[in-house]
Amino acid sequence: MKKYICIVCGYIYDPQIGDPDGGIAPGTAFEDIPEDWRCPICGVGKEDFELQEEKITLKETKKDTSRDSKLAYNEIVKNVFSVGSQDWDRKLFDELIPLPDGTSYNAFIVKGSQKTALIDTVDPEKVDDLIDNIYDLELDSLDYIISNHAEQDHSGAIPMIIDLFPDAKVVTNAKCKQYLIDLLELEEEAFIVIEDGEKLSLGDKTLEFILTPWVHWPETMSTYLVEDKILFSCDFFGSHRATSSLFVYDEYKVVEDAKRYYAEIMMPFRNHISKNIQKIEQKEIKFIAPSHGPVYNRPQLIIDAYKDWISPRVDNKILIPYISMHGSTALLVDYLVKRFTEAQIKVIPFNLTKTDIGQLAIEMVDAATVIFGTPVVLGGVHPQVIYAAYLANMLRPKVRYASFVGSSGWGGKVINQFQSILNNVKAEIVDPVFVRGIPKDKDLDEIDVFVDKIIELHKKL
Ligand code: FEO
Repeated sequence: MKKYICIVCGYIYDPQIGDPDGGIAPGTAFEDIPEDWRCPICGVGKEDFELQEEKITLKETKKDTSRDSKLAYNEIVKNVFSVGSQDWDRKLFDELIPLPDGTSYNAFIVKGSQKTALIDTVDPEKVDDLIDNIYDLELDSLDYIISNHAEQDHSGAIPMIIDLFPDAKVVTNAKCKQYLIDLLELEEEAFIVIEDGEKLSLGDKTLEFILTPWVHWPETMSTYLVEDKILFSCDFFGSHRATSSLFVYDEYKVVEDAKRYYAEIMMPFRNHISKNIQKIEQKEIKFIAPSHGPVYNRPQLIIDAYKDWISPRVDNKILIPYISMHGSTALLVDYLVKRFTEAQIKVIPFNLTKTDIGQLAIEMVDAATVIFGTPVVLGGVHPQVIYAAYLANMLRPKVRYASFVGSSGWGGKVINQFQSILNNVKAEIVDPVFVRGIPKDKDLDEIDVFVDKIIELHKKL
């Protein structure tokens, strides 16, 4: 049975304990409590409780102890090898999102009794790692190069692999084939084109292709290894992480890394992700082997995380990305943080001169509200705030409410600027507050109306 938390005072209703003083016997599920029951601490009703999310803690991290000790260090199951590369030093992805843990470009060799396939390759800068790892396996031949996704961090080394194994055919869908021709100048004859659901036999192992568009580009697909129940999902479920561990061993950290990845790559395509999850869940999956980050030997970990991220549920959380040039906007932000904290709403200010923009993107995945804070520069919004708002608009987070605060005498133009930038964010815009110069006591009434409005909205989340 699930625990519920009072969003007003933080009291947690634990069904195992119940609320004997309030007439609720131990063992009563929250859903079964009478509607007139009140919070024993602050007296609010059931409507002010929300499901307490079960956080994954470090105590729950797992090491894989079930593997066959005869398998090689890079072998997921018998004859399925990880041969990709760890990019420990990469600091920026897409020249946009910071990578505190580096990243990886995973590629996999599947050796069947008759044929051998390479699933995806690596960023061209790391092709030497891929070739070294393939040579270590002393393959007699390579028959197929499966390309799940044409973006160059996975496809960029295909031409070099074809040079080494000229008889290998590139197996992919029609759209991906065209992208690969455009991006890598591959020849038409290099390809075998597959359809959704088509299978390719390697002898005692069978690959099944599942088109999973928009995770991340429209041509993306996953490859399912039928006998071993491994889903090679490419970007889908990936995490920005360089690691010497083949499998996930620190679940909490990997989910955080995957959330960073999801925020930048997947978040704008939530509807497609939902359909693709339904599609892959028709398969029994023992392992998910994405093209970034470690292999999930407990696939439900990342499937459940994705389901939560794409769901309509938002956290009782407010983000305040801001810039302050001379302290006035910072004072305003400090006041908002104080008021929202007092109201027991999680609030995170992001000083954009110091912020890891990836962390802001992570928090946007499930925040209910974002409030941008800006001074006026040359008659408009500060460019750093424009950048954060533009990024939010691209990532299309599921925030319910958005607004702006700042310090200026020229608020009208600023507000118009914000509204034009945030046209993709389907949030209710709360009337903004702009003060003239430093916030003064006379401004407090207006600021408090703004804060109270948002607090009220959050009570209804
Ligand atoms: Fe990891 Fe869309 O490339």
